[in-house]
Amino acid sequence: MSLLRNICKTSTRLFSTHKRPLRVLGIETSCDDTSAAIVTSDRQILSEVVRGQQEMHEPMGGIVPTLASKGHSRNLPGVISETLELAGLTIQDLDAIAVTRGPGLPPCLPVGLNAGKVLAAVAKKPLIGVHHMEAHALTARLTTKNELNQPAPAFPFMTLLISGGHTLLLTANDIGDYDQLGTTLDNAVGEAIDKTARLLQLDWLKGRRGGPGAALEKAALTGDPERFMPRLPKPMLERNTSVISFSFSGLKSAVARLVEIENLVDLNNPQDVSDMAAAFQLTCIQHIEQKIKLALNQEVVKNKKPLTALVVSGGVASNTLFRTRLETLAGSYNLPLICPPPQLCTDNGVMIAWAGLERFQAGLVDDYTITTLPKWPLESLKFRE
Ligand code: KG4
Ligand code: ZN
Repeated sequence: MSLLRNICKTSTRLFSTHKRPLRVLGIETSCDDTSAAIVTSDRQILSEVVRGQQEMHEPMGGIVPTLASKGHSRNLPGVISETLELAGLTIQDLDAIAVTRGPGLPPCLPVGLNAGKVLAAVAKKPLIGVHHMEAHALTARLTTKNELNQPAPAFPFMTLLISGGHTLLLTANDIGDYDQLGTTLDNAVGEAIDKTARLLQLDWLKGRRGGPGAALEKAALTGDPERFMPRLPKPMLERNTSVISFSFSGLKSAVARLVEIENLVDLNNPQDVSDMAAAFQLTCIQHIEQKIKLALNQEVVKNKKPLTALVVSGGVASNTLFRTRLETLAGSYNLPLICPPPQLCTDNGVMIAWAGLERFQAGLVDDYTITTLPKWPLESLKFRE
């Protein structure tokens, strides 16, 4: 790996004196969206294609991994060729190929990784296996610039990654260098949101990405959170108030009990449903806010870490209420809140291409023999040689 790293550092230096910016193709098949995109080192998105599988999974009540894998097999060749066509490029015009290596659904990851490996090996292009959560964390550096036109936020920054599979609070020190401050003890926040949306029998929004979470956000818009909040437990408030960990399963089960056993919510009454959606959503946010405060007190106030921003990404970060409340919280520590645009918070190929590009520029390329890592702690990236 160190030899590869040196070769790549040399080639990156060569490219930086080259007239045109670097171009990287990103491929994402870790969950249910099949996506590819091409981005450049001067931060242009040349093309992006996403094929969702909403119609296939909604009738099943959630994502079925084996069905999702078949969907990727069907869609990926067309998605990649369309991405190249839209950018007016061929594989030979690319400088590297980046693909999600993990974490993700075990039957889905190999579809993208094998495609990326074969394309890279045949075209003799560098291959970059991307950590899906690092990609969520780095997307903000594609979509935000500082006054000097450089990627922002600069390292180090605090990042909250909230998705269907993860609730992670981290300090991002550099590319591939993350310190975990806290994670969930049970369900990811997106998982709890999805189960609650299903319990409340909310229809996924047609033509809009975000699945059950987007449907819950919409229902909550017309709800009064105060009506049911007194009936919901505040996660980890009785005990463990000073621990930076999250917990959502008790809250999720409490909503299920109130709906299914105590019949507190009439599922045929839209106002009841909206009020419960709003109460659940606000309780989730308040729990997250309380833990971020602990982390900021620890890192900014006590450890005097020179954080430049609070970055929030992952599918749940496309939620407007999460974004506005976390902006206020970050502001109270004199930090800007930086979130990618909502469509780049949910899974997409752009974030994989950008993370691949950042890793490529840092000299971090992989061998064509890499395999998928469905469970892959983000902190372990810094131990890789
Ligand atoms: O990052 P992502 O697209 O896929 C994973 O890597 O998991 O995140 C998907 C999660 C799902 O739980 C989805 O319901 C949630 O993000 N989500 C939302 C919203 N849009 C997507 N949750 C709350 N509000 C939204 N607007
Ligand atoms: Zn994701």
